[in-house]
Amino acid sequence: MNETIVSPSILSADFSDFGGAVREIEASGAPYLHMDVMDGSFVPNLTFGPPLVRAIRKKTKVFLDVHLMIVQPSRFINEFARAGADGITIHYEAEVHSQKYLTEIRGLGLKAGVAIVPATPVSALEELLPFIDMALIMTVNPGFGGQELIPECLEKVKKLAEMREAAGLNFRISVDGGINEKTAEIAKKAGADTLVIGSAFFSNPDKQGLIKRLQC
Ligand code: DX5
Ligand code: ZN
Repeated sequence: MNETIVSPSILSADFSDFGGAVREIEASGAPYLHMDVMDGSFVPNLTFGPPLVRAIRKKTKVFLDVHLMIVQPSRFINEFARAGADGITIHYEAEVHSQKYLTEIRGLGLKAGVAIVPATPVSALEELLPFIDMALIMTVNPGFGGQELIPECLEKVKKLAEMREAAGLNFRISVDGGINEKTAEIAKKAGADTLVIGSAFFSNPDKQGLIKRLQC
């Protein structure tokens, strides 16, 4: 069983002050920083690319957990690695040859993650399990922060935890979307050990307390 890690998502930060957001994340004690890269095609929104990863890398040593919500993410793996990502998560739905690219991410010395949207069954990940360090179960339809968690997605977390156990593996299971103190408890019970948290992090004045409670 992996210890719980919280990964605050800068998608919910004040975009005019990323430096301040990094300082808030560091001060909270969260060991990860989640970066949602969106291309306006895989998801109906646009955010940022490698330049922001590079800029944030210069400001912090926390684990940069880069979530690529873009079509054919393989086109950008090298660039995000060079920018300083520690982990790169690609979407199962966005690459036919995801096994090859997950192996490529690991080959660069980074943690490899695979993500699925709510419509994708968790069985789709079965053949990829030996090749990943993290599986990310989207608990909202991606594109925007501040949405409500879709409870049915947590059934996939349970199934995935069983698949992991049966395979004798220990990759992380991350949940992303609509995580707050209440839903985090349910997600942890289902088997999630990595919690991406956007709006509920940046809107909480006691970020240190929040991280402590979520990681206990
Ligand atoms: C959704 C993003 C999430 C989002 C989480 O497309 O992938 O990472 O930032 O934000 P909240 O916690 O506000 O749902
Ligand atoms: Zn994300």
